[in-house]
This record gives sequence, C-alpha cells and structure tokens, in this order.
Amino acid sequence: MTQSSLLGQITDYANRADPYPIYAELRKTPVLHEEEGGAYVIGSYYDILHLLHDPRISSDAANLAAAGDDELTGPDSTGLPPSFIRLDPPEHDRLRRIANSSFGPPHCPRRIDSMRGELSRIVTELIDGLGDAREIDLVDQFAYPFPVTVICRLLGVPREDEPRFRTWVDPLVASLDPDTRRSADTEFQKAAQDARMQLGMYLAGLVEQRTKEPQDDMLSDLATSQGADGTLSMMEVLSTAVLLLIAGHETTVNLITNGMLTLLRNPEILQRLREDPGLSVRIVEELLRFEPPVQLVPQRTCIADIELRGTTIPKGSRIWLVLASGNRDPERFTDPDRFDPDRPDIEHLGFGSGIHSCFGAPLARLETQIALAELARRLDSPRLLQDPPPYRQNAVLRGPRHLPLAIGGVR
Ligand code: HEM
Repeated sequence: MTQSSLLGQITDYANRADPYPIYAELRKTPVLHEEEGGAYVIGSYYDILHLLHDPRISSDAANLAAAGDDELTGPDSTGLPPSFIRLDPPEHDRLRRIANSSFGPPHCPRRIDSMRGELSRIVTELIDGLGDAREIDLVDQFAYPFPVTVICRLLGVPREDEPRFRTWVDPLVASLDPDTRRSADTEFQKAAQDARMQLGMYLAGLVEQRTKEPQDDMLSDLATSQGADGTLSMMEVLSTAVLLLIAGHETTVNLITNGMLTLLRNPEILQRLREDPGLSVRIVEELLRFEPPVQLVPQRTCIADIELRGTTIPKGSRIWLVLASGNRDPERFTDPDRFDPDRPDIEHLGFGSGIHSCFGAPLARLETQIALAELARRLDSPRLLQDPPPYRQNAVLRGPRHLPLAIGGVR
C-alpha cells in the first residue's frame, strides 16, 4: 500500500484531522481494490449497510488470518480465545446473549438505567475538579477519566488500577490501527500480545475473587452465568472482559471530545444546548453520523464470492467498511457535510449495524448526552486554543489526543 493510494491516504496520519475529502473520493469507486491481494474497500452508505447484514461477510478471526492478514490477526500466543466481536454465529450469538443478560438488551438496558444518577455524579466531580483553571485539556481532565471510571464500576474493576491496565490497553488499541500494523515489526506484534496476556492475567485475579464472592457487577455475572446458553469458561470470561474494558472506554472518549470540538465550531448549537439540555439526545446521534469515533471496520472477510455493483469480490478477500464515509454519503443524507442535529432522520452507521452492532450503545449514548449537556451548562465561555487539535495516531478509533480549551471558569 503506497501513501498515494486512496487506502494509504485513509490511514495516513497527515489526513487524520479531516479525512472526509478522501472519503468523497472513495465513494466515486463503489468497490475500491487497489492492489493484488489487498482489501476491497467500500464507502457508500447503502453498500456498507447491506454488507453488514450479509452472512457471507465473516468477522471470524480465523477467516481473517486465512485471508492472509497476519498484520491484523497475528499468531496469537496469549492463549485467550477471540472475543465475540471476532466470531461468527452461533458462537458469537451465544457469548453476546450471555453478556447481554447482565448488561440488559438495547431496548431495556437495566444496568445502564440504574447508573444514570451515578454517571451525573461522576461528571459533576470531574467538572468541579477543574477548579479555578483557565486552561484545560478536555481529554486528560474529563473525556478520558469519565468513561474509564464508568466501565470500571460496571465491570467491577478497581478504578485505582487504571494506570496499570492503561499500559496494557495502549498497545492493544494501537494494534487495531491498520497503518501502525503495516509499518510495525514483530516486536510491535509481540507487545500487543504480551499486553493482552497481562490484561487477561490481571482480570483472572478479579474473576477468581468474584467467583467466590459475587458482587453486583458484570465480572461477577459473567463468572457465574448459568442461563439457557450455559456457562462461560474462564477463558471466555476473560476475553469478554478484555473486550468490554477496551471497547467501553477507548471509543466514548473520542465521542465526547469530537462532540465538544464540533459544538465549539458551531457556537449557535452550543448555545441551544445550554438552554435546552434535552437537545443532547439529537446532538449525540448527529455526532455519531458526523464525527464517528469508529471510522472503519477493517476486519471482515468474504466467505463466498459476492457480486457488488458489477464487481465480483472473490471468496477469501478482506473487506474494509468505511462507516464514516457512509455517514457522509449524499445519496443517503441531504447536505451531509453540515452538522445538523435537526435533520429529520439520522440513521447513522456510527455503531455499525447487524449482529455485531455496538453492544454498549445505550451506555455510550447516555454518557455522552450527560457529559455534553453538563459541559455546555457549566463551562464559562469555552474557547478552542488549537484548531484542529492534535489527533491520536489511530485511523480506526479516531479522535483528538488533546483538546486544549481556554475557559472563563466553572459555573
Ligand atoms: C461493537 C462503536 C462504545 C462494546 C461496536 C461496533 C461499532 C462500535 C462501530 C461494530 C464493530 C463491528 O461491526 O465489527 C462504538 C462507539 C462507541 C462504543 C462509536 C462510543 C461512542 C461501546 C461501549 C461498549 C462497547 C461503551 C461496552 C460497554 C462493544 C462490543 C462490540 C461493539 C462488545 C462487539 C459487538 C458484537 O460483536 O456483537 N461498537 N462503541 N462499545 N461495541 Fe461499541
């Protein structure tokens, strides 16, 4: 993959602050296939939606490895089985159902609803903690610690251990970036595998405790589940817990930060949110369309030949679905490059779709709605100190690494 190829430009860090013109280019070719043996890249809304629901598109880690993407799967020596995001039915469905029986299904997320008051308390404490500061980094001082605290409480992981597990989470998240992987050597691969093993071992200690003395948290529920779908093996508990811990905070941090950045670039909408906190519901949906934290899904494989718009994607090929491009597709959304929370229908791809659609969506939505409404209400005259801000390296999980703001104080 060369930097001048469209695929190379998508992953090139130089384009991280504004990848949308490249996605517009991508949509001119319905099925982009730039090099022999390379991935087939899809950027149109309806094609992505269709493929996310097509059972001939596999998420199974073993199929991806067979498709030759060692960079994306690597020989895994951690002993942990793939988590359900990297499995197909029926195993995917069984593991997801067991996790859901603790979390609550999307239309009735009982654990999440019961946390509403606690989420508001955590937000209040973090904003109070800004004290008399006149310059803040919204990422380090708010958008990162908030979802980390929440996912720790939800799972039952001690919050004070965060510096420990952060050293394992960082290399794991970096390993999701296709660009980093391509330029990476075997040491990078090994670091990610070591990190997964260390994180698994750390969680194993907590799971052992919870098996003996269950608490009201998800680790206890996973360790002791005994429903129609049977029990989880220790390894399945651990790979599910690793997935939830990472997915639970490395995405929401970007939605909150992208949200504040977008509101500060659209001050009239920020003002409306101040006056009407209920607007946060529509703002968060439009953000998931306009600036989605998960830009693309690069880990799918075709398990049969697929005809798409006159092109045959052969069995065994890798597919990248560029969700963020589909979200800006003018065939689907009127005036797609405008941030408009009033649009009548915001059926975005920000949480994916189909059987792998985001498990944590109700939590991510509620966290971000509360966070943005409170930031709008309590930060006095916030102003961007750097626009665009410095971005994280990652092309898949995209968002600012820092968001320096000047504020007049905290109300
Ligand atoms: C899956 C986005 C927050 C847990 C996904 C997928 C997307 C996504 C696009 C689909 C991946 C695929 O099709 O392969 C997001 C965004 C979030 C967020 C944008 C925040 C703004 C969360 C949270 C949790 C979570 C808070 C956990 C509490 C998961 C899990 C899956 C998933 C477990 C895999 C589902 C499956 O394979 O059945 N997420 N997510 N996510 N997400 Fe999220």
